[in-house]
Amino acid sequence: MDLLDKFDGLIAQKSALPFKSADPFKVVMDEILSETEAMINGKKTILAGTNNYMGMTFNPDAIDAARDALEKYGTGTTGSRVLNGTYTLHKTLEGEIADFYGMDQCMVFSTGYQANLGMISTLAGKHDYIIFDSDSHASIYDGCALGNATVVRFKHNDTAQMERRLKRLPPEAGKLVVVEGVYSMLGDVAPLKEILTIAKEHGAMTLVDEAHSMGFYGEKGRGLAEELGMEHLVDFIIGTFSKSVGTVGGYCVSSHPKFDVMRLVCRPYVFTASLPPSVVAGATAAFTAIKNSGNRRAHLWENARRLHDGLKKAGFKLATEKAESPIIAVCLPDMVSATLFWEQLMHEGVYVNMAVPPATPVGFNLMRCSLSAQHTTDQINQIIARFVTTAKKIDLKLS
Ligand SMILES: Cc1ncc(COP(=O)(O)O)c(C=O)c1O
Repeated sequence: MDLLDKFDGLIAQKSALPFKSADPFKVVMDEILSETEAMINGKKTILAGTNNYMGMTFNPDAIDAARDALEKYGTGTTGSRVLNGTYTLHKTLEGEIADFYGMDQCMVFSTGYQANLGMISTLAGKHDYIIFDSDSHASIYDGCALGNATVVRFKHNDTAQMERRLKRLPPEAGKLVVVEGVYSMLGDVAPLKEILTIAKEHGAMTLVDEAHSMGFYGEKGRGLAEELGMEHLVDFIIGTFSKSVGTVGGYCVSSHPKFDVMRLVCRPYVFTASLPPSVVAGATAAFTAIKNSGNRRAHLWENARRLHDGLKKAGFKLATEKAESPIIAVCLPDMVSATLFWEQLMHEGVYVNMAVPPATPVGFNLMRCSLSAQHTTDQINQIIARFVTTAKKIDLKLS
């Protein structure tokens, strides 16, 4: 028995898709020209799907800090956070992030994936319950799978169903409600006020993943919980450096008095090497830049609204009624038209994420755009125009 035979169905499904030259899962960025442009297959391409919301990848202060740290501390720590992998730089960054959120503590992980994996699987143990949204990111699903808690899923953003599920659980049991601020595929927001209120009424602790809402939601850019004035009901906030912060890494912030014990018991924190000094220094500088980025934030929202309005007026079907985040997801009727559309759009010089099931909720075949504060108004207009040209070239009916 060949252990890879179980993937034959997927291999067949993928090879049946009508790609001629490009493959959305094998794109190579040959040269990065700026936060918003790259050379791909010899063509200058607008990047409209890179999650680089605050455009921090070329922030001069972050680059200088990363370069200095690289020269001073070397290329890596070669150790776990609980052994030789904690430098002053890691502690400084954790202090900065805790301050940014007005929380007591922060744990920095090597990725956001590991932050979810570690926190969720460790917080909720045997006899506990995790109640989570069905549209959650894979790292949340995997955090549920790694631990020993009983997992209870509710329909996306369905607060009534969430409450019914909570009511059925033993009142004394430990419960963790897990949701996201903005959902990564459709770019829609959670009804966080209701969710957090219901969770607390039923004695649950709460974890909110703000991976796609940090940087541009809330007065200080902390995310949706800040925007809605609901941070006091959140026990744990998860974040990532791989989007608004422009590098790699993840974190969890909390004011729980026993939070520090997580550093000893959370396996995806303990049993892996810590982030390289250059990354940590770059992330620290990026946080400072994000704190002082009122204009960037406003421009990002302007970009999101312009793209949403432009595509809607052109007759595209969008996943949300209005721009709820810098993620603007365009719905295509099926996987074949999504394939044709994505490939033609690449020929027109625009890169977006082709997102199809199982990465998306059932039935959604998406051209997922994620915008940056560094996109110019002209680039947004170009993206809209090239979407329209693409639709014409592949005979996609617009409404
Ligand atoms: C909602 C959400 N949480 C967590 C992650 C993981 O982040 P990272 O890229 O830092 O592993 C992602 C990444 O796409 C995400 O979308």
